[in-house]
Amino acid sequence: MARLRVFVNERPVDVARGATVRDAVAALDHGLADLLATAAAYVTDGVGRQVDARDPVGEAGGVFRVVVTARRAPAISKEALRRWPKAELHVHLDGSLRPATMLELAREQHVRLPADTPEGLTLALSVQGVHSLEEYLTKYQLTLAVMQTAAALERIAYEFVVDLAAEQVRYVEVRYSPLLHRPALTLTQAIEAPLRGIERAVRETGTRVGLIVCGIRTLPPAMSLELAQVAVGYRSAGVVGFDLAGAEHGHPAEDHRAAFALAVQHGLACTCHAGEGDGPASIHQALQSCGAQRIGHGTRLGEDPALLEYVVAQRIPLEMCLTSNLHTHAVPSLTTHPFRRYLEQGVVVTLNTDGRLVDGVTLTDEYHLAHTALGLGKDELVRVVLNACESAFLPEFERVALVARIQSELEKIA
Ligand code: HPA
Ligand code: ZN
Repeated sequence: MARLRVFVNERPVDVARGATVRDAVAALDHGLADLLATAAAYVTDGVGRQVDARDPVGEAGGVFRVVVTARRAPAISKEALRRWPKAELHVHLDGSLRPATMLELAREQHVRLPADTPEGLTLALSVQGVHSLEEYLTKYQLTLAVMQTAAALERIAYEFVVDLAAEQVRYVEVRYSPLLHRPALTLTQAIEAPLRGIERAVRETGTRVGLIVCGIRTLPPAMSLELAQVAVGYRSAGVVGFDLAGAEHGHPAEDHRAAFALAVQHGLACTCHAGEGDGPASIHQALQSCGAQRIGHGTRLGEDPALLEYVVAQRIPLEMCLTSNLHTHAVPSLTTHPFRRYLEQGVVVTLNTDGRLVDGVTLTDEYHLAHTALGLGKDELVRVVLNACESAFLPEFERVALVARIQSELEKIA
C-alpha cells in the first residue's frame, strides 16, 4: 500500500494514502490524537491555519502542528516514563514478537507472510481497524505460524524479555497457549522451550519473569484440563499461572472449571480473560466458578455496580489494556475508557500491553497514554505501577520485596 510522509510537530510520520490528519497525529502520539477528540487540542497547517482533523492529509510533505490548549501541567515525557521501573502482568508472547525476527523465522521455515519488510509486517499485523475481539484474534494465526518449533519459541521468549528489560520492566508475567503449538510440539516441549529462552534472558537482564499458560475458550474443556495437568508439573520451574483466552462471547469460562480447579489444587495462581468481549456475568463466572484471583481486562465490570463493589472489597486486580480495548472495540474511544473511573473507585487496576506487536505498543506507551489521554498524574501512575507489583503471582515474601524495591526506585526518580 502506498505510504505518504507528512510532518506532525516537526516529526516525520508515514501514513497510508487517504489517511486523515487525525491518523497522522495518532501515528506520532495516540494520546495527542485523543486530545483532538476532546477539543483539548486542535491542528494547524504549516502556515498556522486551523484544519479539520477529519480531513485527509492530502499530499506528501504536508506539515501539521498540534496545539494543545488544555493539558495538565507538568507533563511527564514518554522518555521519563521509559526510565520508570515497571511491571507487566498481561501480555501475550504470540502477540509480541519482533517483526524482524518474525520475517527471519518465516524465511527459515518457508512460511508465507503478507509482507516481507518489518514495516510492512507491522502494518499487516496491526489490529487497528478490526471490528471485534474475534477478528482481532485472527492476527495471531500469522504470528503462530512461525512459532511451531522449539527453537523459535525459545528465541521469541528470550527476545521478548530482553526488549521489556530495555524499557525498565522489572517484573513480567507473559502468557501463551501451549495448545496452539500442537501437533508440531508436545505440550511439554511447548512449555520447556520458552522457559529456556526466559531463563537465559533473566540471567542477562535481571528482569524477573513468570510464565502463564492459557486454555482456549473455543477449544474443548478437556484440552484445558490436559494443559493444566502438564503445567502444574512446571510450578517450580517458572510456570506461575493458568489463564483462559480466546473468543469470550458464547464460550463460557465455567465449561473449563475443571482445569482451573486442578491448577488451584496444585498451587498455580489463576487469572481469566473476562469482561472484554462479553459483559459482567462473564467476570462473575471467572471469579465464582473458576476461582480466578485476577481478571484479564475486566473492562465491562462497571456495568454491574454490585460486582464492582465486590471486586473492590476483595481487592481483585484487573489487568487492563487501554490500546487493545480500542482495537477490539471493548470501548468506543479512549476518552470513555473506564480505567480512571475504576482507579478512583478503589479497584486495583494495572496497565498492560496485551500484544506489543499486534497492538503496536510498549508498556511505556500505555503509561504515557494513561497520562496524556486519561489525565493520570504522577502519584496515580506510581499507584498503578505498585498495583501491578502487589498483584504479581509471586510468593508473599518475594512480592513484598518486589514492591519495596520498585517503590524505593520510584521515590528516587519519579
Ligand atoms: N482476549 C482473549 N484472548 C486473547 C486476547 C484477548 O485480548 N489476546 C490474545 N488472546
Ligand atoms: Zn489478553
